[in-house]
Amino acid sequence: ASIAGGSSGSWRRQSGPDRRGFLRMAWLTALWANVSAFGMASVAFLWPRLGQGFGAVVTLGTADEVSGLVSEGGGRYEIPAARMYVVAYDAASDPDGRYTEVTDGAALMALYQKCPHLGCRVPWCASSDWFECPCHGSRYNRWGEYQFGPAPRGMDRFPLQVVDGIVTVDTGRVVTGPARGAGILQEPPTGPHCG
Ligand code: FES
Repeated sequence: ASIAGGSSGSWRRQSGPDRRGFLRMAWLTALWANVSAFGMASVAFLWPRLGQGFGAVVTLGTADEVSGLVSEGGGRYEIPAARMYVVAYDAASDPDGRYTEVTDGAALMALYQKCPHLGCRVPWCASSDWFECPCHGSRYNRWGEYQFGPAPRGMDRFPLQVVDGIVTVDTGRVVTGPARGAGILQEPPTGPHCG
């Protein structure tokens, strides 16, 4: 019996981790997990925000594909998750290049849907061919330029870029819209207003 007992005790001491070693290992494992989590979070923060939602750099497709979607939508393509409209832009109608910075040479421009008055989402009004805010009546032409109402300026924009033929829009960077009276398009509504 004494041999069996001695053997059993010796087996436990030699093969199992002692308590101090076990705690050290657990502590190191927890530390490693925390450092890893912090590292992953840092990388995620520093990495370009790629995705399809608001705040991200949104990839839309080739310039031809996006232009096709804009044409199908009668002059605009709405991406609700990114809170934007992509509208047709014609550089020939902008001889001073006022929107060159946000269009990057493309025949496209990205507008922020948020009304610069008090922040309502501004829907498109098909009958007038303008953007018309239902909250307090601000109205903007198809380029989001101020036309009427209490808004302090035209709709804000997001920088659009075309790299290797692929269109991206940085919805994390809002470019302030043109001031009242600074609009370029001289286009009256094409029909009745929506509200
Ligand atoms: Fe659009 Fe007031 S929030 S007009």
